Amino acid sequence: MSNKTISGFSKLSKPDKVKWVAEQFFQNPDEATQELMRWWNADDEQQRLLDGFSENTLSNFPMPFGIAPNFMINGRVYAVPMVIEESSVVAAASSAAKYWLDRGGFHAKVLGTKKLGQVHFSWSGDVRKLERVFGELKTELLQDAAPITANMEKRGGGVTSIELLDFTIQEPRYYQLKVSFETCDSMGANFINSVLECFAKTLDRFIATHPIFDDNSERDVIIIMSILSNYTPECLVRAWVECPVDKLGPFNNGLPAAELAEKFRKAVRIAYFDPHRATTHNKGIFNGVDAVVLATANDFRAVEAGCHTYAARDGQYRSLSHCTIENGIFRFWLDLPLALGTVGGLTKLHPIAKLSLEMLGNPTAEELMMIIASTGLAQNFAAVRSLVTTGIQAGHMKMHLANILNHLGASADEAMEAMKYFEGKAVSFTTVREYLEASR
Ligand code: MEV
Repeated sequence: MSNKTISGFSKLSKPDKVKWVAEQFFQNPDEATQELMRWWNADDEQQRLLDGFSENTLSNFPMPFGIAPNFMINGRVYAVPMVIEESSVVAAASSAAKYWLDRGGFHAKVLGTKKLGQVHFSWSGDVRKLERVFGELKTELLQDAAPITANMEKRGGGVTSIELLDFTIQEPRYYQLKVSFETCDSMGANFINSVLECFAKTLDRFIATHPIFDDNSERDVIIIMSILSNYTPECLVRAWVECPVDKLGPFNNGLPAAELAEKFRKAVRIAYFDPHRATTHNKGIFNGVDAVVLATANDFRAVEAGCHTYAARDGQYRSLSHCTIENGIFRFWLDLPLALGTVGGLTKLHPIAKLSLEMLGNPTAEELMMIIASTGLAQNFAAVRSLVTTGIQAGHMKMHLANILNHLGASADEAMEAMKYFEGKAVSFTTVREYLEASR
């Protein structure tokens, strides 16, 4: 076996972990060690906190934390915290926020907050018997889970429904308990999974012992798995902007408002029926959504997984946003299934996430759903507006140029001159390096 393998890595001290990795995987172990240690937090307590969020930690991975100000959502102005490494995303969100500030701002409403979980099981009994005693089973399921659900019930949440689904046509002997939850201001993943695992045990015992199942072969349930579903189509938020077409105003490339509106509408429509465009269109939405989800320490993988399934809910992957122009009114909106929390998880443990939430006025989960959907819509608006007017590269290249200048160690004066010089010119690493070399 190669010496690059190891057992017991997790038990090494952090310096020993760094040492082992540096020696095994780097040309210059000292340099790698120094670089990894450079990002350790000087405050030991903060570092211990961060290390506690994961395992086998070597260092921290810094990401820029910024804000998009001037976001008016349902009449209230927010500065929206964003964690993202892609240049021009925060600038685009800020620009769209400012643009809509003068046109009534963003509007949003929560259409539902239902979360879901499933107990998947295999059983060869008579399903009509199970259906007959399903009421009794439900009572036992809820009774057994009461110690887990009591607290959530006090907060107004808990289990809201339990259904038995028969999938034996798709897969022999396969059934499912499909369970709905209300988890209030928490995302609820731990709560849901604990309830489901408890339900699985009760189900197993109920079928093994209930007298209606008289045949031994009917008493045997195989629990396949118990887990929440990240697809929550009824935990849904809508965000929209609207204004008379003539209020859209002239655009930076001189495109009149009515033409802009029609081009914009068409661009959004293309993303409805063309999955290639839909994927990129939705990626623009997630530039905004993920940045706020990260800044508030929510689960971006869960959000992405659920929203992409939603985008494909009729069998084809489609745009998540829509645009209409009717009776002279431009309307642009977005529906997103967002399972978020503003309590629990890392929301209050992560020091910067805690600040993010405070900056947003310590929102409820529903308010955060509306803020995040509005940010996604703003991002989408800014991207499509650029695409149908100036093109995306003008803005991107400015940021790209700034990054290259930074990388090449340009002074502030050099950077200013370079910005002027490259206006309207193609930017690449080589052209900027050559320009700097020639001007030095
Ligand atoms: C780039 O990060 C996002 C865009 O490609 C989105 C879009 O094309 O709508 C600009």
